[in-house]
Amino acid sequence: MTEANYKHRGLRKARPLAALRYAIACLAMATSLVHPVTAFEPIRPLPQSIDHLPALVALGKKLFFEPALSADGTVSCASCHAPEFGWADPRPVSIGVHGRTGSLNAPTVLNAYFNFRQFWNGRAGDLQEQAAGPIHNPVEMDMSPEAALRRLRQDPSYDAAFAAAFPGVEWDFSHVTRAIAEFEKTLITPNSRLDRYLRGEIQLTASESEGYRLFKQLGCVTCHNGINIGGNSYQYMGALIPTEIDAAGADRYALTGNEFDRNRFKVPTLRNILQTAPYLHDGSQSDLKKIVELMGYHNLGFRLKDEEADLILVFFQTLTGETPEIAHRQ
Ligand code: HEC
Ligand code: HEC
Repeated sequence: MTEANYKHRGLRKARPLAALRYAIACLAMATSLVHPVTAFEPIRPLPQSIDHLPALVALGKKLFFEPALSADGTVSCASCHAPEFGWADPRPVSIGVHGRTGSLNAPTVLNAYFNFRQFWNGRAGDLQEQAAGPIHNPVEMDMSPEAALRRLRQDPSYDAAFAAAFPGVEWDFSHVTRAIAEFEKTLITPNSRLDRYLRGEIQLTASESEGYRLFKQLGCVTCHNGINIGGNSYQYMGALIPTEIDAAGADRYALTGNEFDRNRFKVPTLRNILQTAPYLHDGSQSDLKKIVELMGYHNLGFRLKDEEADLILVFFQTLTGETPEIAHRQ
């Protein structure tokens, strides 16, 4: 940029008053848009529902529970994201077609819509892109798009379902993943005690409230925040004190090859955390108190007191939301 147009764009002359007025206007706008009780809360409540197209959801649900989408006809999305286990996998690492074992723990698909990226290392940008992953993955469902389409076309019950979801369209693999992603929009868990508290509807008990205060004050909230209490940034496991836990190919490093990305993961959501054991990318821990202690030590750099860990566990009880309606019907 030349000197002339640098001046021309007015960047030379500082305009402190205008900047101040702008900042005040932004602040006023931000505070008028949010509920006064929650204006300065780092966690935001979930909405009651997300707009979705019912015909696509119906098809997506059928596909989510469809073992014919796997090479040996035994594995569906629900095999590793099981409704009765918080839509996660109770096994430390998932087991796919022909009994092949993976190296990672399946995160819950509940509220996954709100993650800024999908997978532990964020390699998929959204739910539709994500859904193609497991179908093709040789240790998960191991199907090419062509093979998956052949299977679905052999089943006449899909004719009507696709026709209702995508009228007049010749469907292909992108419609399969589109419908699954639409179904996943219904897998949200509103009205947890924390959300109701954040909306000013209820009070937390004294220990829940103290647990929440510690969660914020000790610094857990620097990584676990926002609408999903996680799911919105990449952070290190071992930010302050390195861990021995093997990244098992789940970290950003596996994707970028950049040293900076070693042991850096998409922060997992803490919503419904009591239902989604075992924990961590490799499923190596089932004891939630142990995890809270690990987090304090490796990610905050100090040992939590026993009673602090216990209070955070009480706070975790407020993070269980309402089970999606579809789980009752299944
Ligand atoms: C064999 C087990 C298995 C099957 C089958 C499976 N998944 Fe997964 N899923 C996993 C594992 C393991 C991960 C984490 C992998 C990673 O991060 O690299 C995962 C990650 C995800 C995520 C990302 C969640 C997040 O927080 O990042 C979503 C969404 C998801 N799966 C949906 C699906 C859908 C939809 C299907 C069916 C098309 C499916 N999965 C089939 C095991 C499975
Ligand atoms: C520097 C960022 C950071 C801080 C601070 C942090 N965490 Fe985490 N947390 C993570 C990351 C990254 C993971 C995933 C680690 C892995 O899978 O190896 C995680 C995982 C978890 C899990 C397991 C979730 C699951 O589904 O596997 C829990 C529970 C948890 N954190 C609670 C806490 C608590 C409680 C605190 C405060 C004492 C805390 N975290 C502080 C980044 C952080």
